Amino acid sequence: MLKAKIAVLVSGGGTNLQAIIDAQNSGVIKSGEVALVISNNSGAYALTRAENAGIKAVCISKKELKTQEAFESAVIAALEENGIDLIVLAGFMSILSESFTSRYDHRIINIHPSLIPSFCGQGYYGLKVHEAALKKGVKVTGATVHFVNEIPDGGEIIAQKAVEVMDGDTPEVLQKRVMEQAEWIILPQSVEKISAELINEK
Ligand code: GRF
Repeated sequence: MLKAKIAVLVSGGGTNLQAIIDAQNSGVIKSGEVALVISNNSGAYALTRAENAGIKAVCISKKELKTQEAFESAVIAALEENGIDLIVLAGFMSILSESFTSRYDHRIINIHPSLIPSFCGQGYYGLKVHEAALKKGVKVTGATVHFVNEIPDGGEIIAQKAVEVMDGDTPEVLQKRVMEQAEWIILPQSVEKISAELINEK
């Protein structure tokens, strides 16, 4: 069976990458396979997760490559070398230019740890998202999977899942609940959905 070839872009712990790997092994993801993991951070534990799963993992460092153009050219070369169809941003903390996102129109998806359009856009990432939700006093938050375009967290929404905010939540406790109850569920589901659409197009 023809499968979409997936690249997962990471920067940190890689728990969302792990959810994708586990979903591939359990059969939740059957229309795609992770062929490549790219990290912009050489210390990312996500790289270890990829290696443990036998998945090709490369570090492409913007620090070393100096310019955004050089960084994106190196990423594009790796994507093309590996025949990638779908790019998944999973805890990826680097900006991608409009020329990059338009090159892969509707073939880049991202997981954001809030219910977009709340707590998203410039400056809202990682724990900052949950700090803002707690500061605002929302009773429900969650996660969103969306297509990536030139607007930070601006592309069409693919999936969302709500998570309750509990009294006494700290940003770390809320982050973990959103990951466990939302991110690690809707990201694999969305990877399968978009992979299936892509191979049906071929
Ligand atoms: C997660 O909260 C994710 O929503 C955000 O980055 C955080 C780290 O994710 N995009 P991971 O553990 O590296 O997958």
